[in-house]
Amino acid sequence: MHRVLVLNGPNLRRLGTREPEIYGADTFDDLVELCRRTGRELGLDVEVRQTNDEAELVGWVHTAADERTPIVLNPAAFTHYSYALHDALAQRTAPLIEVHISNPAAREEFRHTSVVASVATGTIAGFGLRSYVLALHALAELL
Ligand code: DQA
Repeated sequence: MHRVLVLNGPNLRRLGTREPEIYGADTFDDLVELCRRTGRELGLDVEVRQTNDEAELVGWVHTAADERTPIVLNPAAFTHYSYALHDALAQRTAPLIEVHISNPAAREEFRHTSVVASVATGTIAGFGLRSYVLALHALAELL
């Protein structure tokens, strides 16, 4: 069974209360359950994590590279400016799917840049929490 990490950047633990008109009413716990359930259906061993800390996220990405673990990543605001995250992800040794709940291309100008996209296998954005489900399906096909 393939192990897959679903990593989430800053503010995503506040899903459900954070700007629900943009990110929906489902909570982070709902997201964890959705990813685990999807993983079970696809035969993937899914572990979901969230951090507000760039250094912690970079550390997780290094370990994933060392262990050849595929990643579904919602980098949240780090998407738009974290060159440290870009450089860590550039070392990846397994597929990486960038996901977003909203569609950043349809929002403020600063969200139109992703410093992650160029080192990702692909990006899925704008489908609410379904973005993660689609990303796990994409990974299951790639692995
Ligand atoms: C987000 C979009 C980012 O622009 C934002 O900073 C987030 C969430 C999304 O999932 O839609 O925190 O990554």
